[in-house]
Amino acid sequence: MHTIISVKDKQFKPFISEASILKAVQNVANKINAEMSAKNPVFLVVLNGSFMFASDLLKNIAFPCQISFIKVASYHGTSSSGAVTELIGLTEDLTNKNIVIIEDIVDTGVTLEKLYNVLMKKNVAEIKVATALLKPKSYNKKYPIDFVGIEIENEFVIGYGLDYDGYGRNLKELYIIV
Ligand code: IMP
Repeated sequence: MHTIISVKDKQFKPFISEASILKAVQNVANKINAEMSAKNPVFLVVLNGSFMFASDLLKNIAFPCQISFIKVASYHGTSSSGAVTELIGLTEDLTNKNIVIIEDIVDTGVTLEKLYNVLMKKNVAEIKVATALLKPKSYNKKYPIDFVGIEIENEFVIGYGLDYDGYGRNLKELYIIV
């Protein structure tokens, strides 16, 4: 029985079922299998939110691949640009590698832009992006989002790895704010 759930001060209602999510993830896997199998890619899983999508997606990738886990951290350094972005956990040499970034959700694209900027400096061959969810009306960057699970409106969702203030990541369905 699906009911409204409370997370801290907010309420959420069921939005997208587990079956629909898994179908969309399988479609993403099929596209990546068709397009990337000869490219020996490195999948870069952007933590925390992508853990559930990454797990379901990568189980359905049908060719040998490398998988790494990264976190994006911003801090104010002394450079003229102000905020400096760092990728925590990125230790291997990615020179000439074909990268597939695995994101939970692309909203404005600010996070993706930061990832791009850091990865470009590492002389990678190519960057592709796979995301479980995309908010196309919010996204305003130039980078192509190559593999999209489900497009949603500009509303706040939790579940399937996504959180509200740290809660909700474990939900296997998506919930939307009431
Ligand atoms: P960006 O605006 O594309 O940089 O998205 C930044 C981050 O905001 C995402 O990686 C998520 O962690 C978070 N985010 C964006 N929209 C949602 C949402 O609807 N629910 C939970 N987190 C979100």
